[in-house]
Amino acid sequence: MDYKGDDYPMAVSFVEGIPFPFEYQPISERIRELKSMEMRPDDVILCSYMKSGTHWVFEILNMLIKGKAEYTEHWKNSSMLERVPVEEFKDRPSPRILQTHSTFRFLPKQVVDKKCRIIYVERNPKSVCVSLFNHLRDRKQLREGVDWPQFLTMFLNGTVPYGSWFEVCHDWRRVRAQFPDVPVLFLHYEALKADPVAEAKKTATFLGLDLADGVLEEIVEACSFHNLKNAHMKKDSKYATVEDGAKKYFRKGTTDEWKSWFTVAQSETFDQMCDDKDVSQFIRTMADLHINN
Ligand code: A3P
Repeated sequence: MDYKGDDYPMAVSFVEGIPFPFEYQPISERIRELKSMEMRPDDVILCSYMKSGTHWVFEILNMLIKGKAEYTEHWKNSSMLERVPVEEFKDRPSPRILQTHSTFRFLPKQVVDKKCRIIYVERNPKSVCVSLFNHLRDRKQLREGVDWPQFLTMFLNGTVPYGSWFEVCHDWRRVRAQFPDVPVLFLHYEALKADPVAEAKKTATFLGLDLADGVLEEIVEACSFHNLKNAHMKKDSKYATVEDGAKKYFRKGTTDEWKSWFTVAQSETFDQMCDDKDVSQFIRTMADLHINN
């Protein structure tokens, strides 16, 4: 087990050079099992960098597949590939909705041959950065003494769980180019905020679902920030904390909060990094998606 702490905001454990949260033990074994996991052609895999709106999309996906606005019984962590032993997925009914924060190379090898559908959720990295800082701090996972400016530097350096946001951003675009037969839908948090019905409809089409009139609207309403937060207070899961967790996971749910965290200088440094890492064009798209919000 490769433990590292000093230059990371929380304890991490490395697998193939990528830092996973230390708490996900035995992570090396999980990843090894995962790569040879038996997949089904109708499996749907929800992928995202942490704090990109995964719980939100997970619930929408489940409702779309069920065809009705009915909440899942368990938190999305119960479907997390890098946390849950592969054995537990074997008896789950199809179509299974599986979730991960890791990148394509850690997914089961059969994803390619079985052409499993992948939904990749992306969010403005400034929002991700603020959300992750608060998440780690509120859950008391943040290493003592790490303040916002230090955390921001770590985020920019990629010394955070799951590694550099900028690398992940490129990685999914490479996957799309390299595996054109694997269906990948990109969803953006900002677009979901701006027009959730349109994004839910796009997702339903991607999944080949034809929903009755009004159902999309009901699903979107059931998955609004406040409704979803309340629903999670009542859910249970052995892979997530419940009442307390709901308050921390469903924190603000906005696209603009980062502005009250970043100084002008910090924002400029971040923008410069986005230029250097060649991701500014992707972020501009997210900003455009936010115009109507
Ligand atoms: P904030 O910390 O900015 O509030 P993830 O599920 O990937 O961990 O992402 C968590 C982020 O998504 C949190 O962001 C959370 O508040 C936000 N979120 C969760 N449900 C949401 C919803 N229904 N609408 C908007 N944002 C939501």
